[in-house]
Amino acid sequence: MCGIIGYTGSQNAVPLIIEGLKKLEYRGYDSAGIAIFGKGSINVQKCKGRITALEQLISKTIVHYPLSIVNCSLGHTRWATHGEPSDVNSHPHVSGNNKIAIVHNGIIENYKELKEDLQAKGANFVSETDSEVIAQLAEYYHDGDILTTVTKLTSRLKGSYALGIMLCDRPDLLVAVKKDNPLIIGVSEHGNFIASDIPAVLKHTNKIYYLEDHEIALLYKDRVEFYGVDGAPIAKTLETVTWSVGDAEKGGEAHFMLKEIKEQPKILRDTINSLLSEGENKKTLDNFEITRYNKIVIVGCGSAYNAGVVAKYVFERLCRFPCIEVELASEFRYKDAVIDEKSLVILISQSGETADTIAAMREAKAKHADTFAIVNVIGSTLAKEAAYRIYTAAGPEIAVATTKAFSAQLIVLYMMAVRFSGREDLLPEIEAIPEKVAEILKQAEAIRELAQHCTRHKCIFFIGRNIDYAIALEGSLKLKEISYIHSEAYAGGELKHGTISLIEDGTLVVAIANCKTLHGKIMSNVEQVQSRGAKVILVGNCAESDIPLPDCYELFSPSLSAIALQLFSYYVALEKGLDIDKPRNLAKSVTVE
Ligand code: AGP
Repeated sequence: MCGIIGYTGSQNAVPLIIEGLKKLEYRGYDSAGIAIFGKGSINVQKCKGRITALEQLISKTIVHYPLSIVNCSLGHTRWATHGEPSDVNSHPHVSGNNKIAIVHNGIIENYKELKEDLQAKGANFVSETDSEVIAQLAEYYHDGDILTTVTKLTSRLKGSYALGIMLCDRPDLLVAVKKDNPLIIGVSEHGNFIASDIPAVLKHTNKIYYLEDHEIALLYKDRVEFYGVDGAPIAKTLETVTWSVGDAEKGGEAHFMLKEIKEQPKILRDTINSLLSEGENKKTLDNFEITRYNKIVIVGCGSAYNAGVVAKYVFERLCRFPCIEVELASEFRYKDAVIDEKSLVILISQSGETADTIAAMREAKAKHADTFAIVNVIGSTLAKEAAYRIYTAAGPEIAVATTKAFSAQLIVLYMMAVRFSGREDLLPEIEAIPEKVAEILKQAEAIRELAQHCTRHKCIFFIGRNIDYAIALEGSLKLKEISYIHSEAYAGGELKHGTISLIEDGTLVVAIANCKTLHGKIMSNVEQVQSRGAKVILVGNCAESDIPLPDCYELFSPSLSAIALQLFSYYVALEKGLDIDKPRNLAKSVTVE
């Protein structure tokens, strides 16, 4: 998974590309590069490292170009899949004759076969990437006609791709084409953009075309044309996005993660409103007939999966469905699941582009199950392909560690449970959550102080019972993701079956206690670990809490625990001085398997 940005227009393209790359860095950040037209050929500057490394490089190289005439360019930020992060494996990749440059997001599954074929025809490869075959193949097919070149090129590619292409013989033109990976076209007053995601272009325009699989876009300075693979023109609708530039900036906070944590009262309110006041979300929820199904499977990855675990408890208790399963998308897609036309598969995803979740959805469809996406990014693959969809109103989420999108997913799931169970009397409980979240945010400093003393731990355990166990899973994931401290979540009652042997003097255990009915049980688990030397931080609505939470309807309490646990992880990572928004080895949306 990687980020792509391209620009053709009347302005100097280089700063626009760098600025766009910075907005896309969340998609991958092991190397970056830029291509501009030079004197009769393409000039590529690329290097291992963050965008700042690329900036330093081009300040020494591209500076020799009259920048005012560089008004068409492609940029890329990479997350390595084939070939280690290195200068040579970075994008853009150029063809052997240096006349075509490409940037690629995705995986070309048949690249070895294509490479051997092209090598036999005399092509000389310089990188270990799958992507370089695209540039070489484009040169092989290029006969002066762009559409034929792209059609022949893409007909040979197996796998997934979002592609930006520059050709030396058409210095003002950018070509975009995609399959199974996102690409949008931004139309501004001074020129046109291609990008992997909207925040990269938002400063210049909110007018967007969503490119569909196999559509080809030709971007000129003053217009964009769309064609099908058969070469026939396509009419597309220019859409207006409502996100503001501020929505995609840090808003004065040190990190996107903190900004996004603090946005939660508002985005939760927005999400609730979107399900209660007229609009697509409400229509979908109100008209949905759950009694048609005899099995529900909730599918997601990482935090989205954890939201599914919370939902299983909520759906079971409120709706009394006999058969609800939660599955990791990466497992579900290969397990030959027992589902049919009487099954509902609920797919949860912030990005709507997670490859495993998309594959799980397609597997469910192939088995004639109904698919229902809970997704944040409008126009994403999951949103488009699922039979039903509800959008979380979280706005753009930039930090790799999800916070507000996860919380918005919980709200949607509660609202579904309330509606499916006919327990509308619980709506005020949901409507009260944003205010309670705002209350918890006021404890940020106190949580920071607690967190500051936790950085020396090599391992931190999270425990809870029932719904508290479900949210313990998310607390543990958040901590390990950004603080690099090993952590596991356990159901309190499970400790005695093995885990308790890990508890020794000074072990840190975060215990979550919101279940009134099980209060005695979790407190006895706390005693069990304390008596073996553990230090316990208690999070919950009980009197003994170190991080006290407001009282709440038990099944909806994960929305409150989540905030405390997010802040805790954030401050542990902050104290350790880590790169919180871009944790090592991770990327925001995992669009490859
Ligand atoms: C959580 O903080 C993660 N970064 C990760 O687990 C994420 O939730 C997962 O990759 C799923 O992403 P999605 O919601 O975009 O599908």
